[in-house]
Amino acid sequence: MPKHIVRLITLIVVLGVLAAVAKWYFTADSFYEFGHYRAASVPEIAGQEPVYQTPGYCQACHTERHAQWSANSHKSVTCEVCHGAAKGHPQNGKLPIPKDTAKLCSLCHEAMPGRPRTQPQIVVAQHSGGQQCVVCHNPHAPKLAGVVAPVAGDVAAGGKKHAESCASCHGEKGISPNDSWPNLAGQNAAYLVRILAAYKSGDQKDVVMTPLAQPLSSEDIQNLAVYYGSLSCAAPPSQTRVGDAAAGKAVAANCTACHGETGVGSNPAWPTLAGQKPTYLVNVLKAFRAGLRKDPMMAGVTRGLSDADIANLAAYYSAQSCQPATQARKKP
Ligand code: HEC
Ligand code: HEC
Ligand code: HEC
Ligand code: HEC
Ligand code: HEC
Ligand code: HEC
Repeated sequence: MPKHIVRLITLIVVLGVLAAVAKWYFTADSFYEFGHYRAASVPEIAGQEPVYQTPGYCQACHTERHAQWSANSHKSVTCEVCHGAAKGHPQNGKLPIPKDTAKLCSLCHEAMPGRPRTQPQIVVAQHSGGQQCVVCHNPHAPKLAGVVAPVAGDVAAGGKKHAESCASCHGEKGISPNDSWPNLAGQNAAYLVRILAAYKSGDQKDVVMTPLAQPLSSEDIQNLAVYYGSLSCAAPPSQTRVGDAAAGKAVAANCTACHGETGVGSNPAWPTLAGQKPTYLVNVLKAFRAGLRKDPMMAGVTRGLSDADIANLAAYYSAQSCQPATQARKKP
C-alpha cells in the first residue's frame, strides 16, 4: 500500500477516536436521545407554561361566549386564532379584540383557486362593500341565513278572531292608524312569530306589547302571524316627513344585503321594511342602536348611524312599495 494512503487512513481513525472521546467527555448521557439540542433541557422545556391554551381554558371564565362559539360554525377555529396567545391572560391584562376584521376574516374566506370548498369563500370586494365583517356577522356565530321552519297557522280559526283585540292599534286590516305603531299586514309570518314570541318570553320588552303577548299561546302566535302575513300591505303613503328619502337611499346601500334594495328582503325570517310607518322605523332603529332591542346583526349596522341617518333611512323605507314580490334580493 502506498505510504500516503496509510497516513490518510491513520488520520481518519485517530480523528474518529478523538470525536468519540470528546462526545463521551463533553456531553450529557442523553445527548441525541431527543435530537441534538435538547438533551437534558427536555424537562426544562416541558416545565414551561404553554403560550397557547385551548378553548377549554377560556370556557370557565367566558362561559357564554364559549357556548355560542362551540354551537356554531367557527368551532373549528380556536379562540386564540383570532384573539392571540392566551399566555398570562387574565393576570397580565385583557386579550386583544381584533380591530380590522375585514383583514382577519379575509385571510380564511377570500375566494381563491385551490382553496378547499369546505371552507366557505366570498369575493370580499363584492361581498362586504368595504365594511367590517362584524357589521353583519357575529364572529362567534357567523352563519346568517338560518333554516326557517314554515309557519303552520290557521287564518280563519284563530288568527282573525284574536286579531280583533289588536285592531285598535294595528288597524282592522293590519295597517296601523298611527305613524309610530307598526303595520303588520303582509309582514313575513316567520318574522312575526319570532318577534311575538320574543315579546312573550321577555327577550323583547315593550310597555304595550309585552303584557298583550304574554297570554298568547304559541298556537295563537302562529295563527296571528299567518293571518297578518296574508293581508295586503298596500297602504296610503304616510304624511309624516321624518327625513330626506334620497339621502336615506344612499345609507340604505349598507342594508341591501339583508333587507333587499327597497326593503323587501327574501329571507322570510327577516322583516320587510318597505312601506313601514316612518316614526316606528325611527324608534326601532334607535332602540337597536341603544341596545334596547337586541339582535347581533342589527346591533352592528346601527352602531355607526347618526340621528339624521336614521331619519333619512326611515323616510326612504316608508316611501317604498311593499309589493314588488318579484324583486330579487341583491346577493352580497
Ligand atoms: C381565569 C378567567 C379567564 C380565563 C381562563 C380567560 N379569560 Fe378572557 N378575560 C377574563 C377577564 C377577567 C377579562 C377582563 C374583562 C373586563 O375587564 O371587562 C377578560 C377579557 C378578555 C377579552 C377582552 C374583552 C373586552 O371586553 O375587552 C378577550 C378577547 C378575552 N378575555 C378572551 C379570552 C380567551 C380567548 C380566552 C381563552 C384562551 C380567555 N379569555 C380566558 C378572564 C378570563
Ligand atoms: C373568527 C375569529 C374569532 C374567534 C374564533 C373567536 N373570537 Fe372572540 N371576538 C372576535 C371579534 C372580531 C370580536 C369583536 C366583536 C365585535 O367587535 O363585535 C370578538 C369579541 C370577543 C370578546 C369581547 C366580547 C364583547 O362583546 O365584549 C370576548 C370575551 C371573546 N371574543 C372571547 C372569545 C372566546 C372565549 C372565543 C373561543 C371560545 C372566541 N372569542 C373566539 C373574533 C373571534
Ligand atoms: C382561521 C380561518 C378562519 C378565520 C380567521 C375566519 N373564519 Fe369563518 N370559517 C372558517 C371555516 C373553516 C369555516 C367553515 C366551518 C365549517 O363549516 O365547518 C368558516 C365558516 C364561516 C361562515 C359560514 C358559516 C356557515 O355555516 O355557513 C361565515 C359567514 C364566516 N366563517 C365568517 C367569518 C368572519 C366574519 C370572520 C372574521 C370575524 C371569519 N369567518 C374568520 C375559517 C375561518
Ligand atoms: C352588509 C352585510 C355583510 C357584510 C359587511 C359581510 N357579509 Fe358575509 N354575508 C352576508 C349575507 C347576507 C350572507 C348570506 C348570503 C346567503 O346566505 O346567501 C353572507 C355570507 C357569508 C359567507 C358564507 C358564504 C357561503 O357560501 O356560505 C361568508 C364566508 C361570509 N359572508 C364572509 C364575510 C366576510 C369575510 C366579510 C368581511 C370581509 C363579510 N362576510 C362581510 C352579509 C354580509
Ligand atoms: C295599545 C296598542 C297596541 C295593541 C292593542 C297591540 N299592539 Fe302590537 N304594537 C304596538 C306598538 C306601540 C308596537 C311597537 C313596539 C316597539 O317599538 O317595540 C307594537 C309592535 C307589534 C309587533 C312588532 C312589529 C314589527 O314590525 O316588529 C307585532 C308583531 C305586534 N305588535 C302584534 C300585535 C298583536 C298580534 C296584537 C294583538 C294581540 C297587538 N300587537 C296589539 C301597539 C299595540
Ligand atoms: C346582516 C343582516 C342585516 C343587515 C345588513 C341589516 N339588517 Fe335590519 N334586520 C335584520 C334582522 C335579522 C332583523 C330582525 C331582528 C329581530 O328579529 O329582532 C332586522 C330588523 C330590522 C328592523 C326592524 C323591523 C321591524 O319591523 O321591527 C329595521 C327597521 C331594520 N332592520 C333596518 C335596517 C337598516 C336601516 C339597515 C341598514 C342600515 C339594516 N336593517 C341592515 C338583519 C339585517
